[in-house]
Amino acid sequence: MSKAQASRAGGRLRIGVLASGRGSNLQAIIDAIEAGTLRAKIEVVISNKGEAPALERARKHGLTDVYLDPRPYATRSDNKEESRQAYDRAILDVLRKHDVELVALAGYMRIVTPVLIQAYPHRILNIHPSLLPAFPGLEVQKKALDWGVKVSGCTVHFVTEGVDDGPIIMQAAVSVLEGDTPDTLAARILEQEHKIYPRAIQLYAEGRLRVEGRRVIVTGASETGAGAIVAPG
Ligand code: GRF
Repeated sequence: MSKAQASRAGGRLRIGVLASGRGSNLQAIIDAIEAGTLRAKIEVVISNKGEAPALERARKHGLTDVYLDPRPYATRSDNKEESRQAYDRAILDVLRKHDVELVALAGYMRIVTPVLIQAYPHRILNIHPSLLPAFPGLEVQKKALDWGVKVSGCTVHFVTEGVDDGPIIMQAAVSVLEGDTPDTLAARILEQEHKIYPRAIQLYAEGRLRVEGRRVIVTGASETGAGAIVAPG
C-alpha cells in the first residue's frame, strides 16, 4: 500500500490549499473539516498574494500559511513560462516539505504549470464558477449573462494542462434569474461552491474517484447520488 493510500485508509488526507484572494472556499473546506464531514487535514495554505484574506483565515484557524512572492522568480529573459515554472518549483518544495497528498486550488489566480501537474498527477483539484465546459477563464458570470443561459453553476475538476479543462468530478446548477447581475449570480453560485468542494475532496479522500479519459467515475455514486448535484434555485 502506498503512503497516500495508507494515509487515506487510516488517517486524514493531507491537503495543501493554494489561494490568491478572499478564501471563502478555503473557509468552506476548513468548516467541513471542523464539522467532521471532511476527513482531511490542511497542512499548508500557500498564496501568491501577501495580503490575501485567505492567509488570514488560515492563521485564524491555526493553520500554516505561506506567502510566496512570484516576483523573484521572474527570469531576466522575461520568459513567462520559465518564470511560472520556476515559481511552481518553489511551490512544489513547500508542498513536499509538508507532505501534501492532494492540492486544492481555491481562487488561485495563476496558471499552474506542468511542473506541479506532473508532480501531482490527478492530485490537484480546482473549483470553477460555471458549468464547464461552458465559460472557462475569467469573468464567467458576465459571459453567462451575455449568452443568456438559463442555468449556470459551478464545477470541481481535476487540473490538467489546459485552463479549466480537466476531468469533471462534481457540478452544481443554479437558475439564472431575471435581473441577475454578475454579482448576484456569482453569490448564488458561490453558495453551491461551498457545498460541493468539500464533498468532492471527501470523495477523493475516500479513494472513490477514478479517472477514465475525460470521465471521472465515482464509486458508489449511483447508490448515494454522490456524483453531480443538481440544485436549481
Ligand atoms: C470562486 O468563485 C472560485 O470558483 C473561483 O474563484 C473564486 C474564489 O473565491 N475559482 P474564494 O477566494 O474561494 O472566496
